[in-house]
Amino acid sequence: MKQRVLPSAVAALMLAGAAVLAAGPEQAVTFSADERAAILAHGPWPPPRHPDPSNRVSGNRDAISLGRRLFFDTRLSLDGRQSCATCHDPATAFADGKPRGIGRALVDRNAIALANLGLNRWFGWAGAADSLWAQSIHPIVDVKELGLTAEQLRDRLAAAPAIAAAYTHLFQAAVAHDAAERVLVNAAKALAAFQETIVTGRTPFDDFRDALERSDTRSMAHYPRPAQRGLAIFVGKGNCTACHFGPNFTSGEFEDVGVPHFAEQGRVDAGRHGGIAALRASPFNLLSPYSDNADKAAGVPTRHVEQQHRNWGEFRVPSLRNVARTAPYMHNGSLATLQDVVRHYSELNEERLHGHAGRRLLRPLRLTPQEAADLVAFLETLSGEISFGP
Ligand code: HEC
Ligand code: HEC
Repeated sequence: MKQRVLPSAVAALMLAGAAVLAAGPEQAVTFSADERAAILAHGPWPPPRHPDPSNRVSGNRDAISLGRRLFFDTRLSLDGRQSCATCHDPATAFADGKPRGIGRALVDRNAIALANLGLNRWFGWAGAADSLWAQSIHPIVDVKELGLTAEQLRDRLAAAPAIAAAYTHLFQAAVAHDAAERVLVNAAKALAAFQETIVTGRTPFDDFRDALERSDTRSMAHYPRPAQRGLAIFVGKGNCTACHFGPNFTSGEFEDVGVPHFAEQGRVDAGRHGGIAALRASPFNLLSPYSDNADKAAGVPTRHVEQQHRNWGEFRVPSLRNVARTAPYMHNGSLATLQDVVRHYSELNEERLHGHAGRRLLRPLRLTPQEAADLVAFLETLSGEISFGP
């Protein structure tokens, strides 16, 4: 059932106007009641932002500036050559433009573009961390990324007077005399405070979505027709919203879309299955004493999450905000362009999907070239300005 967004007489007049604006004989795109509801659910944007209760310096200006300093500081790597920004460069939307991250060595996965992180429930492609600060510890100590021990980190921060002073001011302890593991956690909490400020602004899609909500057909007509048709596929026959829903275009959970997940020949990336094991074993999860959340309510999902067979080869559903700027795609960067991603869904190899009996969210879409181009045109309207800092 198609629903017009205005009483039909008025709508007919407005649509006539819109048709004149849009060059050529192209049909106006109309959305059913269900499609309209699905589109409205992708906003409003920006969403309200809240400090992270597990991080007592979340939202603190001094923590944000210390975190910003640390984020770009090559002292955080063993040989003094890499920083967080090596793989999360503001010039490439806080990703690195490479299929897989390269720190001290090549890592298994694609560097995730950092943005809107306050909306995440889980972190990393496999959800091995349940807070932004815990996720920020991993690259510091991972031998393939920055490769420091907690003791080395403490010594380096203690030897940098401005950093040491900022640390003492924030955490009421002299970095040189604090326990090494505590220093690691506190540095990660400052890094998290900075990363929380990386947000993406409004997009052409958001303007269209708000115009649709107001039934403002004139403003809606500013949104390109190919993007409108692509949006209709996204919320309609593409079923993309089954997983990429809400204002951040993600469920925040884990799914298998049939991307082969060999990290290298003979070695599989277990995805969420391994992520759950790492999360539960982590001394830094939300159930640990390092969480500042007094009632530990934030740790409830972590306490209850259990490994299941279906978790093999599942990866976190990525946000699609700014997706046109964060190529290449998928957990291993195996798809170079948005055209390739759309082709993946269009030609989907169902034999690669496993473990999801009875849960058929995906089937090969067999899109025409026009439909595929429209879907890409829609994805390209999800880009907004990136801002960060105090
Ligand atoms: C060698 C490249 C590399 C370096 C250096 C690096 N990262 Fe990452 N980052 C990655 C990769 C790859 C992922 C995905 C990790 C995974 O899924 O296991 C990631 C994921 C993340 C995430 C998760 C984002 C999300 O939406 O879940 C955060 C946060 C993050 N990194 C912060 C940092 C911080 C802070 C530093 C510096 C201390 C850093 N990274 C250094 C490559 C890197
Ligand atoms: C069953 C859930 C599900 C459905 C349905 C789904 N996706 Fe995804 N999408 C995912 C997951 C999970 C990934 C990451 C997979 C991986 O890395 O192995 C992903 C990755 C992507 C990416 C790459 C983003 C990045 O940053 O790497 C794009 C673009 C995308 N999907 C678009 C779409 C479109 C368009 C549709 C509809 C045709 C769609 N998705 C349907 C779950 C889904």
